[in-house]
Amino acid sequence: MRLIEKYGHGGDLLTAHQVFNKASGEFLDFSANINPLGPPAKVLDLLKERLETIVHYPDPAHRVLKQKLSERNRVSDDQILIGNGAAECISLILLGLQPKTVGLIYPCFSEYEQLSVAFGAKINSCYGKLELDFKPDISELNLLLLESDLVFIGHPNNPTGVLYTMEELVQIAEQAKKTNTYLVIDEAFIDFLPKQLHITLLQKLERYRHVLIVRSMTKIYAIPGLRLGYVLAHPELIGKLQAKQVTWSVNQMALIAGEAVLNEREYEDETIALVKEQRNYVKQSIEEQLGWMVFPGQANFLLIRITDELAAAELQWKLGERGILIRSCAMYQGLTSQDFRIAIRTKKENDCLLQALKEVAHEGIQP
Ligand SMILES: Cc1ncc(COP(=O)(O)O)c(C=O)c1O
Repeated sequence: MRLIEKYGHGGDLLTAHQVFNKASGEFLDFSANINPLGPPAKVLDLLKERLETIVHYPDPAHRVLKQKLSERNRVSDDQILIGNGAAECISLILLGLQPKTVGLIYPCFSEYEQLSVAFGAKINSCYGKLELDFKPDISELNLLLLESDLVFIGHPNNPTGVLYTMEELVQIAEQAKKTNTYLVIDEAFIDFLPKQLHITLLQKLERYRHVLIVRSMTKIYAIPGLRLGYVLAHPELIGKLQAKQVTWSVNQMALIAGEAVLNEREYEDETIALVKEQRNYVKQSIEEQLGWMVFPGQANFLLIRITDELAAAELQWKLGERGILIRSCAMYQGLTSQDFRIAIRTKKENDCLLQALKEVAHEGIQP
């Protein structure tokens, strides 16, 4: 059953408004994993100031933002493609590389499958194993690489939060090189992690010419309505993706915001510290006060399994009536009707959620 995930994702406030009959602005949204600090204030002011520049076309080559991203990531301009969100980047990878078979490790972000199927690819799959903290068995992953033209890996993975070690990433990339498989590493949530966990093959792209790294700027800078993401890969691959991109698909305001947010280092540090502290707090509170299973992982969200007689859809309904949105994970391959995901937000918002969870769980066990 899809209550508020009518289009397959969290963060759909219009559907929530229609289902729960509350104004969209009234909801506390834990169903999308967006920076709870909101966009940096300076960037919002700048957008207002520059609004009139929408009378011009945006730079079709995204030159200024590309230059800034190349400095930040220590790669050259021609190793970057900027897209209308990481979602457009994923679609351009599929359009540009034309894989006939795509390998997925379930559970994973639903757009990988949806877009692959839409573009005519056949899906191969294996599952993250509960006993391996949702990582796949290495021999199954090797088979997936062997049988697929392109494999997606979430790092950290949505919705499990699985983060691979550098040794694992190198092993997977080496295997993909042997099997001639494109490896897409989706790092949409990596910016929320403490710096020592920013484990990435970015500086090894020269050796791994078949690896593409996808990043999102919508989550960390809280601009999902503006849309901005990028791909990092060998120039030859970037060229193939660029050839499929609609000119001006990245709009003027998104480019202005993207150039400005990259100066906001303090905001990034504050976000990382908040997520680290609140993640531990929420995880511990749920485990201790509700006894539910919180899966290990490393991201600005938690995947939780309800261990009482309460389905995630029922919990979602009862919280929705209270103006709180969570993401039911029942529709993810490899998860169950007892599973749900919550974003990590501010202490005050997290306390509201924890209180509501306790109330609903308590109601659920009344005779
Ligand atoms: C794993 C993952 N990758 C990519 C995206 C798309 O992000 P964007 O908003 O940048 O298109 C999402 C959005 O939820 C996601 O969860």
